[in-house]
Amino acid sequence: MAESDWQAQLDTPVPVVDMATVRANIRALQDDCDRAGVTNRPHIKTHKSIMLARLQIEHGARGITCQKLAEAELMARAGFDDILISYNIIGRPKMPRLAELHEKVDLRVVSDNETVVDGLSAAVATASRPLKVLVECDTGRQRCGVPSPAAAAELAERINSAPGLTFDGLMLYPPSGPTGDSARFVTKTRELCAQKGLQVTTVSAGGTPNRPHIGGCGETEYRAGTCIYNDRQMIRDGVADLSDCALFVYTSVIGHPQPGRIMLDAGSKALSSDLLSFDDFGFLPDYPEARIYEFNEEHGFVDVSRCTSVPAIGEVVRVLPNHVCPVSNLFDQVLLREADGTLRPLRVDARGMCT
Ligand SMILES: Cc1ncc(COP(=O)(O)O)c(C=O)c1O
Repeated sequence: MAESDWQAQLDTPVPVVDMATVRANIRALQDDCDRAGVTNRPHIKTHKSIMLARLQIEHGARGITCQKLAEAELMARAGFDDILISYNIIGRPKMPRLAELHEKVDLRVVSDNETVVDGLSAAVATASRPLKVLVECDTGRQRCGVPSPAAAAELAERINSAPGLTFDGLMLYPPSGPTGDSARFVTKTRELCAQKGLQVTTVSAGGTPNRPHIGGCGETEYRAGTCIYNDRQMIRDGVADLSDCALFVYTSVIGHPQPGRIMLDAGSKALSSDLLSFDDFGFLPDYPEARIYEFNEEHGFVDVSRCTSVPAIGEVVRVLPNHVCPVSNLFDQVLLREADGTLRPLRVDARGMCT
């Protein structure tokens, strides 16, 4: 079927995932990790799919990363038995769930403060084996994480003396760019932990933009999420080309109300409102001069005044999201497209699992 024919059949707006690109992206990440001698523990936050997580394991990943307890519960039910939750787990309602999950799978969690440590400890104090906890370290991103090696070692000690817990190592989500500061943080923390008689078994680093530096922080495992699909941000960061991008949102031109402006049936409900410092809401590779300058929930406003050709009303066009992870979260299912042109739906299993 000609490229435009299959697009015309789509019920828009709809994300379509090119499976040849997905397989190549999974392979490439695994190869990068293998070359660096680092365990691949992909983050499921991008695809949120049991089938794609299985594909990552089949390609050599050892375990998965989830951001939320609910995602980890879902993956455990699907048979994954080695899971890292890279997020401070806090709040009473979560604690029985955490304890139950810990009994079922090889679970590791993180903490950057004593309140979280105390909560985790209370949850698993009577468990059959200790829960492994990593200290989350802030090596420059300024999100979560203890701010210094001294604070990391102190929290490690606290973890190790808490009933039901055992200190397993460090988790960092380094800022994009050179890894020197993160590597120094890790080395110093290892030293301070050794002085306290604590062993740093795991050092977990991650992030698609830092893929060229895998291993540079002294990590033992790597958590990458976005690179299974890639997006406009990853192209800007220099770690992907358009041909590495697997997911596009296909959307119909629903009107041409004024010269120089067309309207799409994809708005923030289909592409999210993430700008990520771009000044428009996505990229139309087939109409590169077009600019999606505004979104309502169901409407995309596109300036086509600089386009040499303008898509006609009814035409289906593809949009590369600025940030692909929230797009997965907006749809119950995506369509997978194989090289022979066949399309099949894939449920976004962990969609909306935010607790
Ligand atoms: C803790 C953590 N690890 C790993 C990742 C994966 O990063 P990326 O999607 O850039 O590969 C993220 C992304 O948000 C994250 O928050």
